[in-house]
Amino acid sequence: MAGSKNLLGIFMLQIMLVGLFSSHADGQGLKVGFYEKSCPQAEAIVSKVISDVMSVAPSLSGPLLRMHFHDCFIRGCDGSVLLDSPNGQSEKFSPPNLSLRGFNIIDRVKLALEKACPDVVSCADVVALVARDVTVATKGPHWEVETGRRDGNVSLIGDPISPGTGLPSFSANITVLKQSFALRGLSAKDLVVLSGGHTIGMSHCSSFESRLYNFTGKGDTDPTMDPNYIARLKLKCKPRDQTTLAELDPGSFKTFDDSYYRLVTKRRGLLESDAALLNDPETRAYLVQAISHGSTFFKDFGVSMVNMGRIGVLTGSQGEVRKVCTKTN
Ligand SMILES: *[C@@H]1O[C@H](CO)[C@@H](O)[C@H](O)[C@H]1NC(C)=O
Ligand SMILES: *[C@@H]1O[C@H](CO)[C@@H](O)[C@H](O)[C@H]1NC(C)=O
Ligand SMILES: *[C@@H]1O[C@H](CO)[C@@H](O)[C@H](O)[C@H]1NC(C)=O
Ligand SMILES: *[C@@H]1O[C@H](CO)[C@@H](O)[C@H](O)[C@H]1NC(C)=O
Repeated sequence: MAGSKNLLGIFMLQIMLVGLFSSHADGQGLKVGFYEKSCPQAEAIVSKVISDVMSVAPSLSGPLLRMHFHDCFIRGCDGSVLLDSPNGQSEKFSPPNLSLRGFNIIDRVKLALEKACPDVVSCADVVALVARDVTVATKGPHWEVETGRRDGNVSLIGDPISPGTGLPSFSANITVLKQSFALRGLSAKDLVVLSGGHTIGMSHCSSFESRLYNFTGKGDTDPTMDPNYIARLKLKCKPRDQTTLAELDPGSFKTFDDSYYRLVTKRRGLLESDAALLNDPETRAYLVQAISHGSTFFKDFGVSMVNMGRIGVLTGSQGEVRKVCTKTN
């Protein structure tokens, strides 16, 4: 009895949550080339700044790709991740922000856009375009980015860690990961494809330390991880290390390729959420496909990024176009 009551409770909660993400991932009002008339040089300006930045600071590619994910998963892709708050109470001050860097690069892009076309290009669109351009800069796929998002004016520190609706944790299991994506209108395929973004970038040791030293609280290691890999990671990451970074895709973490999937299938996924992709028939099948001849990963990545870019967007006369990305107008 208690069980069925719980199920009903969860069902009701899901209905409420779907209500919260009102426009889900249908992307109504977005289109490729939204600024064609209002700011024809917009996309070229973004690409130019990003290619300049990537030539001197390539390590920002991972964090800048990740920024779009953080933005879209919390309150929809509305630039809420960029907002500052005088007393440190906005999203970017929430613990999962540890992996975010490059806010100043977004500001630099926006400044260049404001110079060319004041008050036209939203910060949410800047984040989406930058995610594509850093992918291209690391030799990944190019896709057409839908634009036309407007900026929100709410950003709360509690949202990213809110149970059930926050960002999925690096230690989430496959059930939780799939639920988190489904809540936003994204499929298991989107989950496994977008996880492939871990082909670039780094992770703090603290995000996988328990897998190396204290998995169940008994001083043990994660039995699902390759023991040789654990031994190697222990050399880099000592217990309670809050500063060291490890490559998510060692050997080619600056190149967008399919080697991430090779690692995960060899039980060398760095985060529990990477390893979890082996625990579902659909995501597992994709891992195998992605390392085979005729992999569709590059094409799929663009499709899933477009899907993600549609989550809970504000369009038309909703929201605003911020003048400065860190502040509402
Ligand atoms: C990230 O969040 C932590 C914990 O809330 C905070 O101390 C830190 O200042 C934040 N970092 C940035 C870059 O906002
Ligand atoms: C997945 O994680 C959730 C939340 O921590 C937990 O309730 C659930 O039992 C886990 N599922 C599996 C199959 O381990
Ligand atoms: C491992 O985790 C347990 C439970 O959280 C804790 O009591 C213990 O001190 C930890 N051991 C180490 C070596 O950190
Ligand atoms: C937030 O934006 C809405 C329009 O989307 C506007 O009505 C509201 O006044 C704004 N609130 C603040 C605090 O700027």
